[in-house]
Amino acid sequence: MTAPVVPTRTSADLIRAEEPVLAHNYHPLPVVVASAEGAWVRDVEGRRYLDMLAGYSALNFGHRHPLLIEAAHRQLDRLTLTSRAFHNDRLAGFAERLAALTGLDMVLPMNTGAEAVESGIKVARKWAYEVKGVPADRATIVVAADNFHGRTTTIVSFSTDETARAGFGPFTPGFRIVPYNDLAALEAAVDETTAAVLIEPIQGEAGVVIPDDGYLAGVRELTRRENCLFVADEIQSGLGRTGRTLAVEHEGVVPDVLLLGKALGGGIVPVSAVVARREVLSVLRPGEHGSTFGGNPLAAAVGTAVVELLETGEFQRRATELGAVLRDGLTGLVGKGVVGFRARGLWAGVDVDPALGTGREVSERLMREGVLVKDTHGSTIRLAPPLTITGEELTSALATLEGVLRRDS
Ligand SMILES: Cc1ncc(COP(=O)(O)O)c(C=O)c1O
Repeated sequence: MTAPVVPTRTSADLIRAEEPVLAHNYHPLPVVVASAEGAWVRDVEGRRYLDMLAGYSALNFGHRHPLLIEAAHRQLDRLTLTSRAFHNDRLAGFAERLAALTGLDMVLPMNTGAEAVESGIKVARKWAYEVKGVPADRATIVVAADNFHGRTTTIVSFSTDETARAGFGPFTPGFRIVPYNDLAALEAAVDETTAAVLIEPIQGEAGVVIPDDGYLAGVRELTRRENCLFVADEIQSGLGRTGRTLAVEHEGVVPDVLLLGKALGGGIVPVSAVVARREVLSVLRPGEHGSTFGGNPLAAAVGTAVVELLETGEFQRRATELGAVLRDGLTGLVGKGVVGFRARGLWAGVDVDPALGTGREVSERLMREGVLVKDTHGSTIRLAPPLTITGEELTSALATLEGVLRRDS
């Protein structure tokens, strides 16, 4: 039997086709990706682009890393889903290795980042009632302004981004918002009802905002002293991106609860996890929390392969070495269209001179030159290439940015 002829649709056709049938909750760059390998993607017409966003760090190991694809294929041929009603033969190994990688004790497997955050909030509240002794329904969680932890109703309840919140109330109570990178404000907000301090060690969506040295260690010290949990959301900052397995390692800090996602799924399947000290995750008992897909064998197989890649240290090393190239390149652009930047490892928020356009406009110009990035707020763009990118590819992306900024200055 001959295969049916599929009418070829151009990128423009496909973008037009989305309009009436897809919810308009995103405003993607007008590029329609059809295939990818390593740091490169190809659109429907065959044009190549260097991916300098890497799925918001979900693609830390590049597109279709051969060892991750092999692990997924092997698992697809054997067992894909059991639900947690039964055990599966991949989950124990995944949890053991992830706990060992992070220096913590127990793993609660989930799927998306927002689910890990929601789960972390539930665990912290339960710990507050059962272990700390906070009166029922009085637990508070202290969070930072300009945070981004996901999109669920509870999570947007403590967002300070009105676009993320407007129209979605009523909101979940129990959160106190303090300025980021301000230990005095944090200390003032913590009291006997505090279950946890929940922060991003580096605020990604806010524009790769890096706190002062000593802030994370200060959060660790304060939470220990005040008997509340330090919950670090490393969903974007973790798993090699900053040059360490975890961004908190830059300050030698081990949180009580670690939230992981994105790159844990190797760019193949959604895999997230709450990883915590035994005393904390032990508060969960059967029936109190769960997910049909969390900890499924395919996710566990891919997640294990991700942990194996990180165990080699190669990706953390690359992020450090190439991070120096990124930093040098961006330093050279300051005053040439770049007004400032913040970078750690292979991750940077770049503030472009607003006179040259919004972050979106700069992203569109870069796209036309074959480089994909994402704007955040105003005139800030974010660079987070796969950790597999080569020095030459990175240098060429920086040269493209320089050209885009020069041409329009
Ligand atoms: C720090 C952080 N937490 C949570 C999330 C939510 O992850 P997901 O989109 O997988 O729900 C994100 C996503 O960008 C994030 O950057």
